[in-house]
Amino acid sequence: MSGSRLIGTGSALPRRIVTNAELAERVDTSDEWIVARTGIRQRHIAGDDETTSTLAIAAARAALADAGVDAASIGLIILATATPDNTFPATATKVQAALGCNGGVAFDVAAVCSGFLYALAAADSLLRTGMAKRALVIGAETFSRILDWEDRTTCVLFGDGAGAVVLEAPSDDGDTRGIIGTRLHADGDQHDLLYVDGGPSTTQTVGHVRMRGQEVFRHAVVNLSAVLREVLEDTGLRPEDLDWVVPHQANARILDATARKLGIAPEKVIVTVDRHANTSAASVPLALDVARKDGRIKAGDLVMLEAMGGGFTWGASLIRM
Ligand code: UT7
Repeated sequence: MSGSRLIGTGSALPRRIVTNAELAERVDTSDEWIVARTGIRQRHIAGDDETTSTLAIAAARAALADAGVDAASIGLIILATATPDNTFPATATKVQAALGCNGGVAFDVAAVCSGFLYALAAADSLLRTGMAKRALVIGAETFSRILDWEDRTTCVLFGDGAGAVVLEAPSDDGDTRGIIGTRLHADGDQHDLLYVDGGPSTTQTVGHVRMRGQEVFRHAVVNLSAVLREVLEDTGLRPEDLDWVVPHQANARILDATARKLGIAPEKVIVTVDRHANTSAASVPLALDVARKDGRIKAGDLVMLEAMGGGFTWGASLIRM
């Protein structure tokens, strides 16, 4: 029996687009530097009336419409975010209230840029136990709210957005679609390479993103290629069997280097970092939705999702669409 099936996707982006040229008016940077080092050309930034929950709710509604199912059928909502509306309760419960499907399970997952992979694995596991029949798995962020807008080494890299998928519990009807294999990892020793310098229990402030970019870059390529290999080995597949790779969109150079290491053709890698920048937990479901809606990813395709972020945390999940 395959794992839980992905039956719909949706996404949402803030209205406002900020170009590299606009950022160059605020900090000492340039469009040339940002494009050459990251592939980023623009990002969406949330306005005063847009929060992690408003983006998550819009993405969730789009995913439900795409799946053609009612919110009432959703018994589980897992929302991955590092930028919740409030310290508590979970932003997932705000989504639940907005959708009007109260009574089921709803919680947030904090694994930063790998959050969607962690949330997907948790939802798949809970669906397999019979906890619910259908789940919404959401990655939603307003990273713009935790950026130090004076720090050119981080503020040019991130954007805001949300992506969501509807997952359905596996059944034994012979259907081969669904999640085939997943691997997750964390290495808490790498905390200081990528973290936020604040929080409720330490500074009683929200804090700002701090990153040692070059070191994160190096770890990202090594960890991501290793975890992709693990999932392929677990499932008895080869890199050339993949139809698509949907990576976390941190840097176009990380995407290229990881694909090259595994011998995956660059045209099989979905790239949205140019338009969205790094939207942390939202980036994988956002890119997945873009590629499904533009017709590249089709039913039956074999798709590898992968991400790595603060913690460090990283993971990959293979899905037959
Ligand atoms: O989502 C979680 C995972 N995050 C990531 O995967 C991010 C991984 N890291 C990266 O993507 C890259 O390391 C960065 C894009 C963050 C930086 O690129 P890099 O090629 O590693 O540059 P660097 O940090 O080595 O900096 C090179 C130079 C430095 O100047 P000096 O010391 O050579 O004079 C920086 O000060 O570029 C300078 N620099 C900038 N210049 C213009 C750093 N940021 C900027 C900027 N504009 N925005």
